[in-house]
Amino acid sequence: MNDPRIGFFDRLSADWDHSEQDPRQTVARLEELSHLLRLEPGLDVLEVGCGTGQLTGWLAAKVAPGRVTALDFSEGMLAQAQAKGIDANFQSCDVCRDRLPSQSADLVFCFHSFPHFRDLDAAMANLAGALRPSGRLIVMHLASRAEINAFHDNVGGEVAGDHLPDERRWNELLAGAGLCQTAWIDRDGLFFLEAEIGDR
Ligand SMILES: C[S@@+](CC[C@H](N)C(=O)[O-])C[C@H]1O[C@@H](n2cnc3c(N)ncnc32)[C@H](O)[C@@H]1O
Repeated sequence: MNDPRIGFFDRLSADWDHSEQDPRQTVARLEELSHLLRLEPGLDVLEVGCGTGQLTGWLAAKVAPGRVTALDFSEGMLAQAQAKGIDANFQSCDVCRDRLPSQSADLVFCFHSFPHFRDLDAAMANLAGALRPSGRLIVMHLASRAEINAFHDNVGGEVAGDHLPDERRWNELLAGAGLCQTAWIDRDGLFFLEAEIGDR
């Protein structure tokens, strides 16, 4: 499957940190919201859709000696991230296609990435399978669901229609992957969903 979003993000990659999203503001906002993430030394984190690694170094410092494995399917984005010398494992991966290592992560973190996964059912099953039994999935945006969906429609092209699901669809996705929702925030400037493994 040649996802047209790969070319879209490849084209944006060189300018991402300069004109799309300010890395200092991203880290500062995450620091303010870090109580939600409950990051602790020793956690192994899978960051899915890491882009240029704006948060990867911050995450790595929070969880060391745990490790961050940072995944993306845009080689352009990955090249930008890898050039930063961050102490993390960067890997090329299409989360809708490439099987993630089973039960390898204490936290699977999707920051500003989930709506772009072209097959949400396949991605969710893959993300859930990567969680250790006590692991957590977090999907997070520095905008509400409505703000994100309107923004992607406004950008148009390859990402028009890349929406965060509504509550009914989230329930379906999580249940289908054997996950239970443990937190939900949807307000101006923040979308935060956390889920854990239910009975499976
Ligand atoms: C909006 S960018 C956000 C990047 C980064 N998290 C940030 O906040 O700067 C979304 C990222 O998700 C990646 N992505 C989209 N679909 C993907 C997929 N199926 N597998 C892996 N990465 C994907 C894109 O290549 C892009 O780097």
